[in-house]
Amino acid sequence: MVQISLPKNSKVVKGKLYKDKTGSKQLKKVNVYRWDPSVGGNPRIDTYEVDMKNCQSKVLDVLNKIKNEIDPSLAYRRSCAHGVCGSCAMNMNGKNGLACTKPHEEIKGDLNIYPLPHLKVVKDLIGDLTTLYKQYESVEPWLKTSKKDDNKENLQSKKEREKLDGLYECIMCACCSTSCPSYWWNGDKYLGPAVLLQAYRWIEDSRDEDKKERLKKVADELKLYRCHTIMNCTNSCPKGLNPAKAIASIKKMLATT
Ligand code: SF4
Ligand code: SF4
Ligand code: FES
Repeated sequence: MVQISLPKNSKVVKGKLYKDKTGSKQLKKVNVYRWDPSVGGNPRIDTYEVDMKNCQSKVLDVLNKIKNEIDPSLAYRRSCAHGVCGSCAMNMNGKNGLACTKPHEEIKGDLNIYPLPHLKVVKDLIGDLTTLYKQYESVEPWLKTSKKDDNKENLQSKKEREKLDGLYECIMCACCSTSCPSYWWNGDKYLGPAVLLQAYRWIEDSRDEDKKERLKKVADELKLYRCHTIMNCTNSCPKGLNPAKAIASIKKMLATT
């Protein structure tokens, strides 16, 4: 019989309970994944009792309240607080999303916060996106054109510009890629939905002169065809984009050109 054992220190254990000190009648239990490489050991779930009466509306506000008023050691990424930079992507009660746009009122009962799934953890809620950014770089996400006159606009028709709708809005938050089972198991080879959507954004740009090369670059059994149209990616995009459709469009282009 096959015996499967978890790697050492992978079991998540119960952590500290931070009891409310405000006497608030409106408390929410917030369970947060914690792991500190400088301490090592098993990851743990710390529980914070948070006074929701004096807390603003988003999950990021809850985390900021914990960090500012209860436990300054908690680590997470955030910057814009307006759903623009993508840095506060995390898993909230089983679903990937942006902490700064997710209303905590939508989550009934305890709030459970984890880093994005299947990434190496740098610290607490911070996932390691090194591989994803290398993959992003590999699709050369910039305009390639022989036009040299910087003083002249590079025009598109209205129709050409519309083709970029649903693509240019991507903020590279990685919610989609880290919810994709194919990316979980083959993340070192399969480019994943975020990077493929970005690749398609440049393939579809009428001003770009490298379309053929771009298509050739992604036409690979592992880089592209590991997508099995499971659609988790599209379900998890906080910007309402459809990376599964972008991937299907690349496949269609390759089949018809
Ligand atoms: S549709 Fe493709 S990219 Fe999206 S979750 Fe499924 S396998 Fe992953
Ligand atoms: S497609 Fe959506 S989920 Fe994926 S990286 Fe872009 S914004 Fe984030
Ligand atoms: S902090 Fe920028 S998207 Fe949430």
